[in-house]
Amino acid sequence: MQENLLLSKEDIEEINSRLAKEINEEFKGEELIVVALLKGGVMFCTDLIKELDIQVYLDFLTASSYKNSEQSSGNVEILSDVRVDIKDKNVLIVDDIFDTGYTMESIYKYFEIKEPKKLKTCVLLDKPSRRKVDFQVDFIGKEIDDLFVVGYGLDYEGFYRNTPYIFTFS
Ligand code: IMP
Ligand code: MG
Repeated sequence: MQENLLLSKEDIEEINSRLAKEINEEFKGEELIVVALLKGGVMFCTDLIKELDIQVYLDFLTASSYKNSEQSSGNVEILSDVRVDIKDKNVLIVDDIFDTGYTMESIYKYFEIKEPKKLKTCVLLDKPSRRKVDFQVDFIGKEIDDLFVVGYGLDYEGFYRNTPYIFTFS
């Protein structure tokens, strides 16, 4: 199997800096609860928040929809929740990739009923061709074609998350 590079470490750093600027602007002078979706969103999220110059409170949520397959399903289950109370707080949900959209839409709706002050979403990658829901992510790193990508948090059967760049197999 051959690796085809999609985004180098430098490409990712550039995207993260641009996104951080946008997020800094959106939440200027305010506190922000950043919720990384585990496990895939964790690499991206921890790099991203290092570039935020606002007060950040980090928390995590594990959602499952993929189970161990490449296909997503509309049944998104929360396996572990955030510990923080988000009522009247600014919240940013961060994930690795926006694919069918089921995961982000479900978590957004789950948080929305808890009445946060402002609720926004951020993903590193977006695969618009795969979308199954009518939902817009606020901060998007890069749109990609319908490719199965791994690295930098993105996995195939649990592996390749630690690779510092993003690639496809052929
Ligand atoms: P969605 O619910 O279909 O939008 O799926 C989002 C989740 O699917 C992401 O958090 C990833 O865990 C996973 N996913 C979607 N596309 C890929 C991919 O190309 N590689 C690895 N994981 C993916
Ligand atoms: Mg994931």
